[in-house]
Amino acid sequence: MDGEAAKQMVESVEVSPALPHLPPGQVGPDVFRQLLKQAVRVADLANAQATRMAVDFAEVYKREQRAREEVDANLRQMSLMEKQATRYAEDLAQMLRGERERRLELERALDHERIANEELRRTGLQGISHLLLAATIKDQTTGSHLLRVRRYVEAIADRLGMPVEVVEEFGYSSVMHDVGKIHTPDHILQSEHHLSNDEFEVIKQHCIDGETMLGEARFFETARAIAREHHERWDGKGYPDGKCGADISLAARIVSVADVFDALTSKRPYKEAWPIDAGLASVEAGAGKQFDPDVVAAFRSLAKDGTIDRIRAEVAATAS
Ligand SMILES: [Fe+2]
Ligand SMILES: [Fe+2]
Repeated sequence: MDGEAAKQMVESVEVSPALPHLPPGQVGPDVFRQLLKQAVRVADLANAQATRMAVDFAEVYKREQRAREEVDANLRQMSLMEKQATRYAEDLAQMLRGERERRLELERALDHERIANEELRRTGLQGISHLLLAATIKDQTTGSHLLRVRRYVEAIADRLGMPVEVVEEFGYSSVMHDVGKIHTPDHILQSEHHLSNDEFEVIKQHCIDGETMLGEARFFETARAIAREHHERWDGKGYPDGKCGADISLAARIVSVADVFDALTSKRPYKEAWPIDAGLASVEAGAGKQFDPDVVAAFRSLAKDGTIDRIRAEVAATAS
């Protein structure tokens, strides 16, 4: 309590009237008791005031304490959230780094595969040229026949709407259709007379030999199918397995048309070359019997728009 408050408190205390019979400067026992009582009341009042102030202070202190605790709790919460956010960002960064590394690894693997594929392709093409060289040495007519068959096959596959890679694969695979003939004895291969049943059995073997010669590499998968099936017929009356319809691979069905058309329209040891129209008429007559009708239709449209004539002329120019 400050001085001013104590002064006011003393003023407010009820004071007994002065004793008139006493001389000035003397204080009687009643007055002293009175004063003592007064002092005690003042002290009580001061005490009460101090207690109230202490209680008030305690309340204010408690409120402040609570507010500080709240602030502390909020700060702790914020710091926790900040730590979590930091951890999350680190995790995310780690994940992105991992992702980037994985992508780079994948790209490297794809690069290796591309190189390996390219090498395989080169090796495969080299293998083809060796096989063709052997076949050409054995039968002089084979060279330009193979070139024309390849071009016909590519044109038919393209007309049937096959993708470029498939057109190319069918093309290079078609040149190996008779590769098994390397095992066929010359006297049967170049015979100018009609083949006996036994000789025909030997001829059939070239399909099976061709497939075997082409091994197991994926690169020759289509070539193997063509070697095995190019003498099969749409109606199932062909050889060596008597497959029919769509059981025969599309590549072999296409090669069959191209190969027969070129055989008919080329000179062979046992026959003259047929005119183009006669060859085409024979192929058309075979639609649905010897040949896949869709393949024959594509071939007919190629003959109609001049593609077949153009291929024949271009191959003849290369050969001369
Ligand atoms: Fe053949
Ligand atoms: Fe052929």
